Amino acid sequence: MWTDAGAPAGMPSLFERGGDLISFAGGLPDLDLLPLEELSGQLARLTRLGGRIALQYSTPHVARALVPAITDLMAREGGRPVAEDLVPTAGSQMGLLAVALGLGTPGETVLCQTPAYPGATAAFRTAGLLPYAAPEDPEGIDPVALRATAARLRAEGRRVRMLYCNPTFQNPTGATLSTERRHHLLDAAREAELLVVEDDPYGLLGFDGRTTPALQGLDPENVLHLGTFSKVFAPGLRCGWIAAPAPLAGALRRTTEVMALSPSAFAQAALAAFHARGGWDTLIDAYRERYRERCGLMADALDAELGTDGPWRWRRPDGGFYLWLRHTGGADTAGLAPAAEQGVSFVPGAHFGLDGECGDALRLCFSHVPRGRIAEGVARLARVLRGASAAGPERRVA
Ligand SMILES: Cc1ncc(COP(=O)(O)O)c(C=O)c1O
Repeated sequence: MWTDAGAPAGMPSLFERGGDLISFAGGLPDLDLLPLEELSGQLARLTRLGGRIALQYSTPHVARALVPAITDLMAREGGRPVAEDLVPTAGSQMGLLAVALGLGTPGETVLCQTPAYPGATAAFRTAGLLPYAAPEDPEGIDPVALRATAARLRAEGRRVRMLYCNPTFQNPTGATLSTERRHHLLDAAREAELLVVEDDPYGLLGFDGRTTPALQGLDPENVLHLGTFSKVFAPGLRCGWIAAPAPLAGALRRTTEVMALSPSAFAQAALAAFHARGGWDTLIDAYRERYRERCGLMADALDAELGTDGPWRWRRPDGGFYLWLRHTGGADTAGLAPAAEQGVSFVPGAHFGLDGECGDALRLCFSHVPRGRIAEGVARLARVLRGASAAGPERRVA
């Protein structure tokens, strides 16, 4: 911590389970699709034949054997990683903190796409950086206004060097920036001398298999890409990477070394072995199909329970893990926290605001809810939300 004055910035607790709770809260992948038998054979072989290396400390570099697995994933979105500039992480959450600590200076402002993944804003704040909402229009980050915002903040004496975004199947809205908007955004970022930090855990999880060009592939010299195996493989291995512009890789490597000494050689070797045996297609196709189905079931249930002309509005996403609901009357979803008493959980929207905004929204995750529990979960949720609608005006008067 840069100061000892405050506690580290907090994260919502997302992964509680148990009892009769139907959780729409945490962004967990559906690991029923992992080929566990095959994996356990590969892990046994890895331990037997390479255990003394894979279980040893390693260096803060991506293992050579893992590079093809990363290159394969990134190429599917047009990403163009350079092996020497890949920095291993224990998942993108660590990547975010490494970027904040390694590249930021305390007191510096970071422009953020909003609503924002709370782990990103918590990482920035933990490093003493100040998240600030990037200007947006209905298509996403507004490139023209971005230039003006960066100039205004600098004129006010603020230091601004980074723009954080999650451009594909965004957490929490599910929104994707169009290819055209990406080009304009990258031009604007260059003109405004902003390094673009592209957080991309969901880009390969489009329900129809289509991808949108990664910002990294469009401008590798000015985009730092955070990749992770958490959503396309499994988060328990805690394995991800940063594809950095060459001049930044050294600082990031040194920072990750301070954070974790070395990455998990075992996790990297396990992923490399899995990819070498069968590639990514089967698993990623299975995940995509599963999430397409789950999202459809949840959206249909929401239509049935909440109607399409009531106060709650949402858009069906084309990929990713999340549905984002907003209340047109401004109901405060944080006040619905006792929803757990109704046997259902979700994340109140204010967690995704930089300063408590989005209090009228909530995020639902559909990725890991058993098929047969979605309708029941949405029925419980609807009971909670109907209460919110009724209570809304009173709360506004008070
Ligand atoms: C947008 C975004 N970034 C980063 C992360 C962190 O993922 P991990 O650390 O498991 O790679 C998540 C996890 O949900 C996320 O949604």
